Amino acid sequence: MRENEILLKEQLNEVVVKFVLYKPLIARSAKAGQFVILRGAENGERIPVTLVDWDSKKGTITVIIQSIGKSTFMFNSLKQGDLFLNVLGPLGTPVDIQNYGTVAVVGGGVGIAEVYPIAKALKAAGNKVISILGARTKELVILEEEMKSVSDITLPCTDDGSYGQKGMVTDVLKGIVTAGEKINAGFVIGPIPMMKFTSKLMVELGIEPYASLNPIMLDGTGMCGCCRVTVEGKVRFACVDGPMFPARTIDFDELIRRTSEYKNEEKQAVQEYEKDHKCKIGLH
Ligand SMILES: Cc1cc2nc3c(=O)[nH]c(=O)nc-3n(C[C@H](O)[C@H](O)[C@H](O)COP(=O)(O)OP(=O)(O)OC[C@H]3O[C@@H](n4cnc5c(N)ncnc54)[C@H](O)[C@@H]3O)c2cc1C
Ligand code: FES
Repeated sequence: MRENEILLKEQLNEVVVKFVLYKPLIARSAKAGQFVILRGAENGERIPVTLVDWDSKKGTITVIIQSIGKSTFMFNSLKQGDLFLNVLGPLGTPVDIQNYGTVAVVGGGVGIAEVYPIAKALKAAGNKVISILGARTKELVILEEEMKSVSDITLPCTDDGSYGQKGMVTDVLKGIVTAGEKINAGFVIGPIPMMKFTSKLMVELGIEPYASLNPIMLDGTGMCGCCRVTVEGKVRFACVDGPMFPARTIDFDELIRRTSEYKNEEKQAVQEYEKDHKCKIGLH
């Protein structure tokens, strides 16, 4: 086995791929909420992805990647036996895992993969874990069995009603609390508008919200300032201070603006890549 080698590749749906990589040092020290920065080639971008799972005995880490633009499409076309050029990590501050009592763990789309290690750690810490898995349609609901294995209750939902409850994660959350469940803390990962509205609802329902932020990152070590976010009126760097933050006072609108800054360049990169590769990218 070689460092950074893809030991296993599994297509979870049309746009999401699971990779198990050989990376013993990271596997030994990873904690829930941390991430790695991947690079596929010498002139390639640095792409942050969550550490979804790890096995310190086997020396493996698991990442799950959604094809959304040029770099993630290139990653997802790698094969078993191929190597990532760089796998840097573990990065970020681990999530503060405590026994909160009852917790809601909410994942949207590929965010389901990103909340899995947090749900697992919260369950191990003695919490009652209620997991809500949201997606646009049935095919995009991922890791349901894995989430069930670390949750007391698992509730899938889809926008089009093709699987689980029809509606958004906020509808499901409101339903549980209205039915009498007292939830103490909530952890949400997914598209930024979903995190914004879920966090707002949690505050209204008396649940302490936490959200994992996904600004554009470069170095991932607090040096470049690229991942600047505003929390409690203060500038924080998501790569070192987060990515998980208390969500009551996150400036989500600023995050939406900052993550859209390179839309034109990203679109152009995809179009140029598509010219050479007949592929399905940009399905987001
Ligand atoms: C801490 C963290 C953990 C993440 N975990 C996962 C994960 O587990 N699985 C997963 O599929 N995705 C994850 N992401 C998102 C992933 O990094 C982006 O989808 C990826 O960088 C897109 O790159 P691209 O070239 O394919 O797409 P592009 O077309 O370049 O960009 C598409 C969108 O992705 C975002 N993005 C672009 N470049 C970066 C960058 N360098 N850093 C962060 N965001 C960027 C922007 O919002 C952009 O609009 C995570 C992001 C962060 C910050
Ligand atoms: S990515 Fe550079 S400071 Fe966070």
